[in-house]
Amino acid sequence: MLVALACVVAVLAQPLLASPTSLRLSKRDDQPGLQSSSALVERQVQGIEALLNRTALLSWETGAHLEALVEFHSPSLSPFSSESDWSELTPRDAAFLPPGLLSRVGQIMGNASESGGPQLMQDGSAADPASVGPFVVLANFTLDNDGSELVQGVGRGEIEAAVQRQVDVLLQGTPKTADGAISHRTEDVELWSDFVYMVPPFFAYLGALTQNRTLLQAAYDQCRLYREHLRVSSGDEAGLWRHIDNRFEGGGDMRDDGLWATGNGWAAQGMLRVLASFANQDDDDLQNAFESQARDLGDWVKEIVERTWEMPRRSGLLYNYLNDTSSFADASGSAILASATYRLAYVAREFDGLSSSAPSSSSLSAAERMYRTLITSDGRHLSNPQGVLRPVVDPMSFDLQLDNVRADGSGSVSPEGEAFVLLLESARRDYLANGGDVPDVSADSGADRAGAASSLVGVLAAVAVLLFA
Ligand SMILES: *[C@@H]1O[C@H](CO)[C@@H](O)[C@H](O)[C@H]1NC(C)=O
Ligand SMILES: *[C@@H]1O[C@H](CO)[C@@H](O)[C@H](O)[C@H]1NC(C)=O
Ligand SMILES: *[C@@H]1O[C@H](CO)[C@@H](O)[C@H](O)[C@H]1NC(C)=O
Ligand SMILES: *[C@@H]1O[C@H](CO)[C@@H](O)[C@H](O)[C@H]1NC(C)=O
Ligand SMILES: *[C@@H]1O[C@H](CO)[C@@H](O)[C@H](O)[C@H]1NC(C)=O
Repeated sequence: MLVALACVVAVLAQPLLASPTSLRLSKRDDQPGLQSSSALVERQVQGIEALLNRTALLSWETGAHLEALVEFHSPSLSPFSSESDWSELTPRDAAFLPPGLLSRVGQIMGNASESGGPQLMQDGSAADPASVGPFVVLANFTLDNDGSELVQGVGRGEIEAAVQRQVDVLLQGTPKTADGAISHRTEDVELWSDFVYMVPPFFAYLGALTQNRTLLQAAYDQCRLYREHLRVSSGDEAGLWRHIDNRFEGGGDMRDDGLWATGNGWAAQGMLRVLASFANQDDDDLQNAFESQARDLGDWVKEIVERTWEMPRRSGLLYNYLNDTSSFADASGSAILASATYRLAYVAREFDGLSSSAPSSSSLSAAERMYRTLITSDGRHLSNPQGVLRPVVDPMSFDLQLDNVRADGSGSVSPEGEAFVLLLESARRDYLANGGDVPDVSADSGADRAGAASSLVGVLAAVAVLLFA
């Protein structure tokens, strides 16, 4: 199917290349899909996408799903693209959209225009629905004329109004802390690390595409404020983020001081998207104006990444709460944190002035080891061909392991975990395609070799018992 898509894209691209205004050769420099460096195989990608189609239904799951599709299939449309064209979209770019994106955005818009509510998808979270915002905006910019091809009866005017309602309810209609951090929830003031993936990338993406300084600044300010509230400031864990803070006027009952692995991943990956939107936008004035903010974001992500890989592991995986060995091993948080490490390595190479944010070689090695632990040929953590990731945290209750996960896909699945695998594959691919080195971890790929060695010893022992009994 990827080959077919590539052919369609190539055919569509021909007449575009002939026209003098559309010589966008850079569109072909970002390599989509799997590459020779990938351990993941095509059948697993199909499996993961089928699972996402079936299970990614809630707002943040949809946001993670669509981001994974863009980064994996359409890297030239992501702010991580090797060129700045992603921020100058036209209907010609419709040819590069990932399969399935328009139909999902069409459903979202159909529902949003029916409900008429302020959020793009109805949710008790103030933040999660904003995670689909970038893809509504992406679809909007690539539609022809009045935009009516997206969903019957919903034209461009209504799409734009729905996006504006989502911006307005966040900036003006959601409870805030006294210092201006927007609550993750609609009913009271709660700061969840998850927010940083849901809202700032939306503000930054829309801000870059519409040259809106207010939105770009809001993206940065929310990252800064959330970090001030959630970052551990001293001790061995300094630099990692707690999950949920409620210690201020108007704070609700929900609090989680634990260093949730997935939450640190949401924060790191969200800040990376904001950083790329600042550093890689087409408008030079805005790019210059946000240079120091981009540098801050690089430092803040590096802090999370470096501390993460100093934390303990069990059979190669990070713990659900990073420093708590009584919690369980979690492949989902492990995947997004490995992804963030490769993305950080990529942006530190790609953008001038960010080289000091490059992860250390030991962090990069740890991320590579994690990639190989997750995508082993025996399918222990990612089944083949179904692409089921396990063991994983329950997306609906962040301190429990998800029950009834089955390798064949007939049980429960973590939609966000599935999306994280594609984000990891994409981040690693882009880093390698742009001259990054993959650390050689073959001599020490810990758990796998130890596991293989001990089963070999077991077989030899059994043979010896049979021979000499
Ligand atoms: C997922 O759904 C989209 C939209 O319906 C479709 O284009 C795509 O082929 C589906 N992917 C898989 C692997 O089923
Ligand atoms: C939105 O609408 C579709 C049908 O167009 C429906 O199947 C779906 O459940 C609705 N809700 C969400 C959250 O997408
Ligand atoms: C929607 O697309 C139009 C046409 O490209 C553009 O002018 C407008 O700024 C876009 N609005 C949003 C919210 O994406
Ligand atoms: C930028 O976005 C904000 C928030 O939606 C809006 O109030 C403002 O008018 C926009 N500025 C410009 C110049 O469009
Ligand atoms: C994890 O780190 C936090 C923040 O430093 C600390 O409060 C907590 O006691 C640590 N937990 C364990 C199990 O060490």
